[in-house]
Amino acid sequence: MAEVSGSVAAVAAVAVVMVVAIVVLPCGVEAKTTIEPCSGSDSCQALLGYTLYADMKVSEVAALFGTDPAALLAANALDFAAPGAAHRILPMGLFVRVPTRCACADGVRKSVSVRYAVRPADTLATVADGVFAGLASSDQIGNANGLAAVDPDAPLDSGQTLVIPLPCVCFNSSDSNLPAVYLSYVVQIGDTVPVIAAIYETTVTDIMNVNAMGSPVAAPGDILAIPLPACASTFPKSASDHGLIVANGTYVLTAGNCVQCSCGPGSLNLYCTPASLTGSCPSMQCSNNNVLLGNVSTHPTSAGCNVSSCSYGGFVNGTITRSLNIGLQPRCPGPHQFPLLMDPPTTVNHDSTFLPPLSAPAPAEAGEAIPPPSSPVPVKGGSFTLPKVSTENGSAGSVSEAPSMNKPHQMLSSFITCLLLYSRM
Ligand SMILES: *[C@@H]1O[C@H](CO)[C@@H](O)[C@H](O)[C@H]1NC(C)=O
Ligand SMILES: *[C@@H]1O[C@H](CO)[C@@H](O)[C@H](O)[C@H]1NC(C)=O
Ligand SMILES: *[C@@H]1O[C@H](CO)[C@@H](O)[C@H](O)[C@H]1NC(C)=O
Ligand SMILES: *[C@@H]1O[C@H](CO)[C@@H](O)[C@H](O)[C@H]1NC(C)=O
Ligand SMILES: *[C@@H]1O[C@H](CO)[C@@H](O)[C@H](O)[C@H]1NC(C)=O
Ligand SMILES: *[C@@H]1O[C@H](CO)[C@@H](O)[C@H](O)[C@H]1NC(C)=O
Repeated sequence: MAEVSGSVAAVAAVAVVMVVAIVVLPCGVEAKTTIEPCSGSDSCQALLGYTLYADMKVSEVAALFGTDPAALLAANALDFAAPGAAHRILPMGLFVRVPTRCACADGVRKSVSVRYAVRPADTLATVADGVFAGLASSDQIGNANGLAAVDPDAPLDSGQTLVIPLPCVCFNSSDSNLPAVYLSYVVQIGDTVPVIAAIYETTVTDIMNVNAMGSPVAAPGDILAIPLPACASTFPKSASDHGLIVANGTYVLTAGNCVQCSCGPGSLNLYCTPASLTGSCPSMQCSNNNVLLGNVSTHPTSAGCNVSSCSYGGFVNGTITRSLNIGLQPRCPGPHQFPLLMDPPTTVNHDSTFLPPLSAPAPAEAGEAIPPPSSPVPVKGGSFTLPKVSTENGSAGSVSEAPSMNKPHQMLSSFITCLLLYSRM
């Protein structure tokens, strides 16, 4: 097999050493994952690219990854403030970005906070390839749980809880000295590196550098780190949201869901405003002024435009810190443009399921003109339709449960994956 083994490369821009780890897929083919060595105990923010293996409620996807439904929606520019948003059903095959805390464990960056409660008939292979859609291999899950000797296709004891190690990298939250957040992307059948680069508006060279690739070739099952342009924060170390970073075109909720920060689409400056998700948020005025977090007031003067803005400075010791900044600018800025929020999709656009960019509208929406970003609150068109809403509530707690898997579909797809992989060799 002509696989790169433990190749080491240095990326000049961030001076970080990367190693390519090799993992054995169920069909005996090695898949590569980009990993980042680390030391210390700091964690950072990253994104997981996840393809739903079944129709799932927003709250179920969030529970699977131990995240908050609103945070999941915000990371995908889906309307997180809509009533009942957490109970919307997302279609099987949909690709979403899942926000994750990237820790430092055993000297490499990985996400180690996800726990999965085994259901009847689950095997290491179905959990790895089905439920977690290839983000972890059955070997990795086995090793992380003292089950290395267990046959990946043997039923597990239902009721036991598995730690699911998930791949993530941060590379100092920058790429070529610009703020970036990294998406762990499982290469799908039919993907090519140039297409992945085009969809994520980056270059083949950048993807090759970040992933220490010798050639622009990736195989299905490989996990690539894709840098996404982002807005960085400058909150102090004492802030619990120190290091907050928001991918272009998306939102992040912080300060106990009382503050929402967005990035883009115009300038890549972080922009935070009060969020109205919980009823118990403190006042967010700047000092003795009447201006609220996010407010910008402009006064044209003969010398230029006197701009004062009230900005968010991090969640410090339970306090939403804010500061009033006043300065002269050559011109008055226009109204702030927010990233457009969409309704959660109800169908998957099959032409792009293997690599759906965030902006790809679902077929139901494809005929409508996408309204330009509006200000200050994104406004949706009048044809607001609710997708099917389940009567059950999502499971709460940190241990996730998953809906039952569409087994024939999943087994067929992994059979095809193996066939294609063998045919490449
Ligand atoms: C990480 O990024 C910060 C600013 O974004 C920079 O000051 C620092 O030098 C970088 N560290 C490394 C190791 O590249
Ligand atoms: C940010 O996203 C917008 C579209 O949402 C795009 O037009 C813009 O080029 C992106 N900026 C960067 C730096 O990628
Ligand atoms: C100040 O911000 C609040 C909340 O974001 C908004 O409702 C209000 O219109 C803003 N006022 C001005 C003058 O921009
Ligand atoms: C700019 O506005 C602030 C308050 O809005 C005011 O205190 C300050 O004097 C103004 N500066 C100029 C140069 O007009
Ligand atoms: C946080 O707040 C508590 C009570 O208000 C105070 O005793 C403590 O010193 C504060 N800690 C920091 C780091 O500011
Ligand atoms: C679902 O949640 C709502 C409100 O959180 C609650 O009133 C209702 O009883 C729950 N239903 C079930 C079936 O758990």
